[in-house]
Amino acid sequence: MLRVVVCVSGGGTNLQAIIDGIAQGAVCNTEIVRVVSNNPGAFALERAKRAGIEAVCVSPKDYRDRELFEEALFACVEEATPDLIVLAGFMVKVPGKMVKRYENRIINIHPALIPAFSGTGYYGLKVHEAALKRGVKITGATVHFVNDGMDEGPIIMQKAVKVYDGDTPETLQKRVMEEAEWVLLPWCINLIAAGQIKVENGRVTVSE
Ligand code: GRF
Repeated sequence: MLRVVVCVSGGGTNLQAIIDGIAQGAVCNTEIVRVVSNNPGAFALERAKRAGIEAVCVSPKDYRDRELFEEALFACVEEATPDLIVLAGFMVKVPGKMVKRYENRIINIHPALIPAFSGTGYYGLKVHEAALKRGVKITGATVHFVNDGMDEGPIIMQKAVKVYDGDTPETLQKRVMEEAEWVLLPWCINLIAAGQIKVENGRVTVSE
């Protein structure tokens, strides 16, 4: 069983896609052992509880400084002894110590085709605003391993989504989620659980 900790900050539709994937058998050999949020108001925590998964909030507001918050976050994840950490809309830069400890064992979903519209400042609707402003005809989502950089780790999988005339950031965000994010993230977790993902020299290969 692949023990997964999912880190979330918001609505948790990607978390839901993983929960549903496990329930429906599309994601095999996987258990979500804990959901962690930096935001006490995250609906994702509610989704976890409804699915009978332990939901824990580690809010920076409860700590004197960033270092103490990062320590608490690290401890909370460690305690759950995960094999894989999934960032599903987690709006916190992962502490360096955690990146090091879980090298090639933290994945993130980004709502664009990296390296387009990625890096510092590209999060949430801003990603889709930038894509529309540039006038791209194709965008999509990327699942990648997390390293020290911002959206820079080895790319695991990408899925393209069409941009239509008349799209708003909101309609584009919805299409990217429905057609790409909710499909890709469970799929990648399933591949990792099956031992089909390898990282070599910063590149990912997927075996049959
Ligand atoms: C998604 O668009 C994801 O790609 C990004 O944050 C959003 C999270 O949405 N990293 P949700 O909380 O999973 O609904």
